[in-house]
Amino acid sequence: MAVREIVHYGDPILRKVCKPVKDFKKLSSLIDDMFDTMYEESGIGLAANQIGVDLNLFIIDISGIEEETESVHIFINGEITESSGESWFEEGCLSIPDVRLEVKRPEFIQFKYQDENGIEHIEEMHGLLARAIQHEIDHLKGVFIVDRVTKTVKMSVENDLKMIAQGAVTRSKTRKAFVL
Ligand code: CO
Repeated sequence: MAVREIVHYGDPILRKVCKPVKDFKKLSSLIDDMFDTMYEESGIGLAANQIGVDLNLFIIDISGIEEETESVHIFINGEITESSGESWFEEGCLSIPDVRLEVKRPEFIQFKYQDENGIEHIEEMHGLLARAIQHEIDHLKGVFIVDRVTKTVKMSVENDLKMIAQGAVTRSKTRKAFVL
């Protein structure tokens, strides 16, 4: 188990569509490292490409914010098959330190995924879990929160994005809720 380095905005791996997981036998050390890294960074979600791994896999733990029946989630080859409603929520991103943006997303989703054993599930989700899933699914498709806001809002953080892409900002100075 090890804490890996978080990849930041500007790195090409965060702009590509990640490869589907086909071999489920060799995932356990990657998943352990992802949890170590996410907890070290006080995140509530992490996609594999955020630690530089080109695979369609992400983890979520929102148990610090909301009570849930399962506290940790591992989602592989996930796909949102239906969505409805809308909500606004302020999101932060481990790959864009200290930038926080109000993002509009569907409130309800139907989500199809495989677990770490390759078993397929389809579930209806809403609230924080649905939001966190949509943030991570975006990562695995090369999409950031800054792509989900208006041009004007994106312009307001353009300087921060430049600094991050140049490697001048690598770690969040603040610890705020809902960073993933
Ligand atoms: Co993020």
